[in-house]
Amino acid sequence: MVGVAEPSVRPAGAARIWASALSATAMLTVVALMTRGNGPAVRAQIDSAVWWYLARSSGLVAWVLLGASVVGGLLLATQLTWGCMRTWTQGLHEGVGALAVVFTAIHLASVLAADQLRIGLRELLVPFARPDNPVAQGCGVLAAYLLTAVALTSWARALLPWRWWRRLHLLTFPLFGLACAHTVLAGSDTTYPILHWVSLLVGVVILFLAAFRLLAARPAGTAAAVPTGLQEGIPAPLVPRPASPAAAPTTVRTGMRLLITQTTWEADNVLSLRLHSPDGAPLPSWEPGAHIELALPSGRRRQYSLCSDPDDIRSYRIAVLQVPVGRGGSVEVHTGARAGQLITVQGPRNHFPLVPSTAYLFIAGGIGITAMMAIAARVASAGGEWKLVYTGRCRASMAFIDEVCALDPDRVDVVPGDERERPDLDALIGATLPGTVIYCCGPDRLLQAVQDRVAARPELSLHSERFTATATATADGGGAAFQVELHRTECVIDVPADRTLLQAIREFLPSVPAGCEQGICGACRTTVLAGEPEHRDQLLSSADRAAGAMLMCVSRARSERLILDL
Ligand code: FES
Repeated sequence: MVGVAEPSVRPAGAARIWASALSATAMLTVVALMTRGNGPAVRAQIDSAVWWYLARSSGLVAWVLLGASVVGGLLLATQLTWGCMRTWTQGLHEGVGALAVVFTAIHLASVLAADQLRIGLRELLVPFARPDNPVAQGCGVLAAYLLTAVALTSWARALLPWRWWRRLHLLTFPLFGLACAHTVLAGSDTTYPILHWVSLLVGVVILFLAAFRLLAARPAGTAAAVPTGLQEGIPAPLVPRPASPAAAPTTVRTGMRLLITQTTWEADNVLSLRLHSPDGAPLPSWEPGAHIELALPSGRRRQYSLCSDPDDIRSYRIAVLQVPVGRGGSVEVHTGARAGQLITVQGPRNHFPLVPSTAYLFIAGGIGITAMMAIAARVASAGGEWKLVYTGRCRASMAFIDEVCALDPDRVDVVPGDERERPDLDALIGATLPGTVIYCCGPDRLLQAVQDRVAARPELSLHSERFTATATATADGGGAAFQVELHRTECVIDVPADRTLLQAIREFLPSVPAGCEQGICGACRTTVLAGEPEHRDQLLSSADRAAGAMLMCVSRARSERLILDL
């Protein structure tokens, strides 16, 4: 994965900002020119020939920009771009599309102002109203209306059900066709060879991408997996498919089918996904600290913290750090997840809940900030005492810095490793008031360092969340053989030394719940009714363990037999 040089400037966001500024400027110019009081005076000062040249050039530029935006949109839809390239393509698609609107506005204004064209408001607004060359004029007016519809619905995209937006966005194709017809039939420049070459190039690229998109959109077996009404014009769904036994759990579990409506490059190698219900229905509510589990096409299941606003259940947001030498889940999300795909999601579940306290210290390392954001936001909105220390390799690798600082810049300490010394944990935890609850999420080294310091301060309480298993929490078995009795199923199973408890139980209970199989997510939690478990996870608290909880994916037995509530 190639990193973004300056990820704090989001390409798509930046494009929207400058495109809005240009659009506003162009609209103001149009209004100024058309205003009854000043309009004629302004127009009179400019030679009519200038308006005519402006009309021709702005029309051609708008047409080229529209073609470029269509190409960008098709590149996004065909999944021929990925990673930061994809985000830049998205920014380009949106920015160039907005510029096309700007130049169309300039074209309309200058057409109106150019006396020799003899076009009034009626010809500008009513299709086929011009006696000479009505087809060219009609195509132009209809294209302008379609462009307005596409532009407005794109700006209001977050407010619309995804399906409506998608269908309206497909109007871009007739819009571009009408714009081409208008350019060819009404233009005064169609004899220039450069125009022919540009139109040929744009046309070939669009046709190729559209054909590729249509062929790639319906691989065998895919259509049936997509709900009716969503099969038209969306990328292949990101749904689980059979995978090798090593990669995929054999359990069959259902979940919500959610739509990826947005992917955003948040920092170097950090991609966020926005998920909505396909029909726009509210999603299950969640509390700060919760995570969801994605079922990836390879069969992998991965858990990601929810880092959106828990009060807004129209959508979920997660952020994924790509780990090239990891177990493959993050790479699969980065290279495979696209807006418009469906993905199976389980949860939300919460093993990192916000506990009541009068004071909090949040320590986040790198992508660990995602587990902390909603918790810190809830504490900040409640007006409690809190401080957040956010460390990372460098500013470019740290996602959501602006969002986190916006909670309260005075309480958030951002520590990029290439700008400042790493936080002095001895001083930080040493100065923490008794009774403070410490939340920590990040790399193992950070968690261990915090854990060691908090161990010396029993009046503090530490809540931490891991993203990877520790050396003791492995899913490859390892240990003595033992027997497990499933109390409700009424069977006894041998667990050999080289298999995990979960693997052994699955043969009898294929639907037994599981997720990460690393002792991280808590999906395989069960209750021990008798026997002595050997806990190998880092998730369960001592209170959980005392209450009989056990994670079947990594933990084993010290006694010869365990009786589980299964
Ligand atoms: Fe995730 Fe066991 S499957 S903790």
